[in-house]
Amino acid sequence: MATENDPVVTPPLLSRWKRDGRKITSLTAADYTMARLLDEAGIDVLLVGDSLGTVVQGHGTTLKVTLDQMVYHAEMVARAARRALVVADLPFGSYHESPRQAVRSACRLLKETECQAVKLEGGRRMAATIRRLVEADVPVMAHIGLTPQSVRHLGGYKVQRDADALLADAHAVAEAGAFALVIECVPSEIAATISQALAIPTIGIGAGPSCDGQVLVTHDLLGLFEGFRPKFVRRYAELASTVREAANRYAHDVQSSAFPSDEEGFR
Ligand code: KIV
Repeated sequence: MATENDPVVTPPLLSRWKRDGRKITSLTAADYTMARLLDEAGIDVLLVGDSLGTVVQGHGTTLKVTLDQMVYHAEMVARAARRALVVADLPFGSYHESPRQAVRSACRLLKETECQAVKLEGGRRMAATIRRLVEADVPVMAHIGLTPQSVRHLGGYKVQRDADALLADAHAVAEAGAFALVIECVPSEIAATISQALAIPTIGIGAGPSCDGQVLVTHDLLGLFEGFRPKFVRRYAELASTVREAANRYAHDVQSSAFPSDEEGFR
């Protein structure tokens, strides 16, 4: 649990933790209530991930999420965070046209919400964009490996195994000025090599134990989202059945007039 004495998390602090060997914790958040709970639990980085397109909006991919929607969710999450670093995803189509478009989109997120950084997907091909964002004082978290916004191009959600390409991508985003790197669905040995090679922290999802931190989609970790369960997800709760059972008991109590009782009303 977070205490009053815990430092507010910043990009430089994440780098210090990497040097100290202190692992970084990250989970996704899309609304105030969940973000507040995760922040109080001591999670270091709240990622307003565009995976909300699947677990909140019910789409099959993240491609439909818009910048307006990311602003809406990042605003709620950032309002809840006391200690965690809040990072918001740049959604598909909001940074692909040019570095100039990326700066415009990122500035909306930083100006209209209290989030402190943005994340974008892509390695070498995004290096110029990352450089431009950093020049504009936008802290950038990069994301390589399985990048869900490229699902059409990649032909599905597949483990990425090209070690040379992944290492080149990792070096390119670090040299461009990214402060941290998400590595998704990559064999553990490749992620370990990248983590050793870079000065910036790596945050893995399906990338083994050697990354400097880990991130999961909160709906997966809590067992709330049952649509699809990747191999790398560890469930720490089974909230889907808890919610169904609670709603079912409520419906039963209403129908049998057991709820509300006299004590639950006003006189
Ligand atoms: O959108 C997201 O939630 C993400 C994480 C899975 C890293 O990018």
